[in-house]
Amino acid sequence: MKTTTTHPYRVLIADDQADIRDALRLLLKRENYETHTVASPGEALSAIEAREFDAVLIDLNYARDTTSGQEGLDLLSRMQMLDATLPVVVMTAWSSVEIAVEAMRRGARDFLQKPWENQRLLAILRTQIDLRQALRQASRLEAENRLLRAETRPTFLANSPVMQPVLDLIGRIGPSDANVLITGEHGTGKEVVARTLHAMSGRAPKPMVTVNAGGLSEGIFESELFGHVKGAFTDARSDRVGRFELAEGSTLFLDEIANVPLNLQAKLLRVLETGEMERVGSSTTRRVDVRVLAATNADVNAEAAAGRFRQDLLFRLNTIEIHIPPLRERREDVDLLAHHFLRGYAQRYRKNLTGFDSAALKTLHEHPWPGNVRELDHAVERGVLLSPGPAVRAADLGLRPPTSGPGSRLEDMSLDEVERYLIQRTLSRHGGNVSQAAKALGLSRSAMYRRLQKHGLE
Ligand SMILES: Nc1ncnc2c1ncn2[C@@H]1O[C@H](COP(=O)(O)OP(=O)(O)OP(=O)(O)O)[C@@H](O)[C@H]1O
Ligand SMILES: [Mg+2]
Repeated sequence: MKTTTTHPYRVLIADDQADIRDALRLLLKRENYETHTVASPGEALSAIEAREFDAVLIDLNYARDTTSGQEGLDLLSRMQMLDATLPVVVMTAWSSVEIAVEAMRRGARDFLQKPWENQRLLAILRTQIDLRQALRQASRLEAENRLLRAETRPTFLANSPVMQPVLDLIGRIGPSDANVLITGEHGTGKEVVARTLHAMSGRAPKPMVTVNAGGLSEGIFESELFGHVKGAFTDARSDRVGRFELAEGSTLFLDEIANVPLNLQAKLLRVLETGEMERVGSSTTRRVDVRVLAATNADVNAEAAAGRFRQDLLFRLNTIEIHIPPLRERREDVDLLAHHFLRGYAQRYRKNLTGFDSAALKTLHEHPWPGNVRELDHAVERGVLLSPGPAVRAADLGLRPPTSGPGSRLEDMSLDEVERYLIQRTLSRHGGNVSQAAKALGLSRSAMYRRLQKHGLE
């Protein structure tokens, strides 16, 4: 699906090699970008002072000093001072991954290794431009602004008595460097707690890095965590930075920790004890400063007793343990959370809904919530999507077997199906224009693209 934009995106390319500048210019021209090429850091700075760019691609090495990357890093810092929102993507030879990491720390949004793959370069550029647009729109629109704040400062709501000790604990240990193990059933809010702890800490200016141990095959898990060097294994065609290094000075959230294979548990224990690690295939020891938060919905104590999880690792991870009770044990929170989700979705879907009718409230209070807060979140989203207003109706929450007869097609759909349907309808109403459809749905363009991808509607 093609989008129509009013002006072509403008990209600044800085590289001292003429053939590289030409190759990039041709590639981007084919994709309808407008390009401006320069050969030195000085010219690059003059260019961004003179006019606006949507993104910048810079080489890190220039003629004056061709290997250290220092000129490129200085250029990056200067650009950040001129405009911190300008997405800068750095290019580097494969052998200088260290410099690329340093560039990321200084604010580069992504990096490419030369020789680059065209598709990857285009994807990175696209993502960065979309992200910046979303950010800009956010600073214009108060509504989006609120969303943005919610993203950086997570909302963790609770007022039931059983949650008081949890809130106290979060308040006390948030600012510390303590490792924390967060336990609780699916959907109880473990990730929100992790984000809250990170947001309260001195590490908050840097983004929290997440690894989901459940979603990774054993083979790639180690390199995902610790990175690898070129040639470490068949597919290792270049150096790769692992999540531990990416989380330097920040927080690493190890989700579904019970799934970490036993042989990797030893390596994890070592980095937790000493702060030292090696990339796969390398003998160079690196030190990292990372706070580790871990989460699981499995009973790790039982796993440890059964010999499937190392006891010593568990002791390292659970310096502090935060257990989040299931929602059915804190029904006092249902109301608060339901209204919070209602406000969010009513705004997102532009529906004038002010509350729940009495039958809906009764359903919310009586439902057993096996899927905990996430289930409540989804039920309210569904209710908001389906209720004509002014209040969300019980049947629209989809928590009971449908009682109505034929004619209620939407009610028989899953939330995903409703989403797909709604997106398709909005797109066709706007003649296939993704930007307009996204706007109508209250989504940023990148959020819209993620959904199009998810539903195979691209
Ligand atoms: N106390 C809370 N206040 C506000 N929102 C919450 C709260 N608890 C959970 N949520 C919301 O519920 C959803 C599920 O939460 P989260 O992803 O943190 O659960 P989880 O315990 O990590 O689940 P899983 O075990 O399935 O990974 C999220 O959308 C989250 O924002
Ligand atoms: Mg989770």
